[in-house]
Amino acid sequence: MNRESDGVDDARWEHGSDFHWPGLDIAGTDDDASRWLAGLEAIRYAAGRGALRALLDHGGWPRVWLPSYVCAELVAAVGDRVRFYADDPSQAQGRIPADAQSGHAIVRINYFGLRRPNSAATLRERGLTVIDDHTHDPCGPWARDSDADYCLASLRKSLPLPDGAVLWSPVGGRLPSKPEACEAAAAKLPAMLLKSLYLAGHPVSKPRFRALAIAAEDRLAELAGVGMSAVSAELLECLPIAQLRARRRENFQAFASHLAAEEVGLLQPADPSLTPFACVLLFPSAVARELARRRLIAARIYPAVLWPLDELPDHRAMFPEACEVADRVLALHCDARYSAADMQRVAAGY
Ligand SMILES: Cc1ncc(COP(=O)(O)O)c(C=O)c1O
Repeated sequence: MNRESDGVDDARWEHGSDFHWPGLDIAGTDDDASRWLAGLEAIRYAAGRGALRALLDHGGWPRVWLPSYVCAELVAAVGDRVRFYADDPSQAQGRIPADAQSGHAIVRINYFGLRRPNSAATLRERGLTVIDDHTHDPCGPWARDSDADYCLASLRKSLPLPDGAVLWSPVGGRLPSKPEACEAAAAKLPAMLLKSLYLAGHPVSKPRFRALAIAAEDRLAELAGVGMSAVSAELLECLPIAQLRARRRENFQAFASHLAAEEVGLLQPADPSLTPFACVLLFPSAVARELARRRLIAARIYPAVLWPLDELPDHRAMFPEACEVADRVLALHCDARYSAADMQRVAAGY
């Protein structure tokens, strides 16, 4: 991937939103993260929600506990079996309720890649099946050292892939049968290529690639549990995953060292060797968050609001802490699309 964002025309500079296809200046596959991922006995799906849905249909658990701070895609994948327990990224770990019983499954999320490895042994002793979600740092230490019954990770959230997710069992648990590779799942690739050309200054219509990206995201949601596309599988082979991951950590540090605003907090990893998924800002109030969001958008910096929880019935009454965090966070991407210079510009734009 090009350093210092070369290939990006300054007049077209922007930050965030969907991935563009990056130039690759380092050959992939021969680094420890790529080798680890390639060697994993995993089932490959087009999307993380499809991986979870397939696992739950296969395992047949009558109740599935999700953390209270969670994305809508996972809630929909669990469906009527869902129960919630209190957890959010401002906590070191979740509070497992007494009525999470033997025979149920529980999903834990390594929020934004900020958490240290956490053994599943105590939960398993209670008879729970533990499913860890490593979407935010798929090749991080917790994913690689996990002793959970199952792990899943949506790869397309941290890597420039049009689709892709993996499901594996660190303890040799039975996995669902392998789905067929589905080329329609890669519908985002044309939008990624056009965005790349747009950023380089070519005469490409931004509304057109945005519309293609949105339609592709809708298509992926409809496809649900299909297999990862062959094109994403090929692209994955080309990605120098360890370098991309190292770049994410450097970018987080560049942002952290240039963030001058005092009224806003930056969620920190549990230890400095971890690799955050994004620079997640915690504002003093929802109003302050909204003002900052508008200011950033005016500077062509597109942050993500992760995750709105208001559509979940009774959630605010039952989980006020998670809802309060959800009201106040804004996530700024720090993946390998960007350079340290970009991250300084984002910190200044804030
Ligand atoms: C932690 C986490 N898990 C799973 C998903 C779902 O991934 P996908 O969109 O590939 O279904 C997301 C998506 O935002 C996520 O953030």
